[in-house]
Amino acid sequence: MLFKCLILTLLLLDLKLFAITILSIHLILLALDKQFFPFLTDACTEGYNEMADPFKKKLFQELQSMKNGSTSKLRILEVGGGSGANLKYYQVPAIIDILEPNPNFEYYFKKNAANYKELEVNPLTQGFCEDLLAAGFDNDCFDIVISTLVLCSVNDQNKCYEEIHRVLKPGGKFLYVEHVYAEQTSFLKTMQKVLMIGNFWQFLNDGCCLDRNTDSTIKAFSKWSKVEQEKFDLPFSSNMFHRVFNWPITPHVMGYAQK
Ligand SMILES: C[S@@+](CC[C@H](N)C(=O)[O-])C[C@H]1O[C@@H](n2cnc3c(N)ncnc32)[C@H](O)[C@@H]1O
Repeated sequence: MLFKCLILTLLLLDLKLFAITILSIHLILLALDKQFFPFLTDACTEGYNEMADPFKKKLFQELQSMKNGSTSKLRILEVGGGSGANLKYYQVPAIIDILEPNPNFEYYFKKNAANYKELEVNPLTQGFCEDLLAAGFDNDCFDIVISTLVLCSVNDQNKCYEEIHRVLKPGGKFLYVEHVYAEQTSFLKTMQKVLMIGNFWQFLNDGCCLDRNTDSTIKAFSKWSKVEQEKFDLPFSSNMFHRVFNWPITPHVMGYAQK
């Protein structure tokens, strides 16, 4: 909105060349963003995983508990799998499908998946979580669906929950680790609001929103038989870049929702 107002003001002031230059830079950045974002995500994954490691390890223990007693491999779907940040946490016999809308992640995903040859990972499926049927996933076919740092970017969280619920087998679990809006009025919450002005943060991070109450929206989706979740703050990193870049996404929620 702010950006559109800026362009309009420049045009009204007859600063056409200035408006055209700013608009052109914006369009070039938009076009590059889809390519640059996978590079950025891949570059930041190790740093993020270092900070989130104890929480991810705890969450992924759910895979073991789902596996208990069963001789067949777990069927797992990860939505918004990106560059394969979670491959190292899949430590059970499983067949893994990864859904990813941005095809520019494929290069990074293949590079990282090569380190986990013991895993049975199907080729990346291109598609959106809001429409898993279009991506080829039938009703009741997965034991587990996983999402990490994805629900901040999707267009419609409720459609995603609807689809995740549909593809899960009865009793199946949706595991998530997501960053959320800060709880109380605080400097961090103010900064989250400021960074969202004019869609600045979204523009830098391929649609990521800092002001979503994903913890509440998951709980509010009425079809889950059970929701377990806990909030945590991402610990500070010793690396200055990660400390600054990840500060706006400090508040997190993790847990599972069961069909
Ligand atoms: C911040 S990255 C996180 C990637 C990875 N899950 C991780 O933990 O590193 C957000 C991911 O969500 C994906 N994404 C955005 N909108 C989506 C949607 N509607 N359905 C599925 N994935 C989506 C992006 O393409 C990107 O891979």
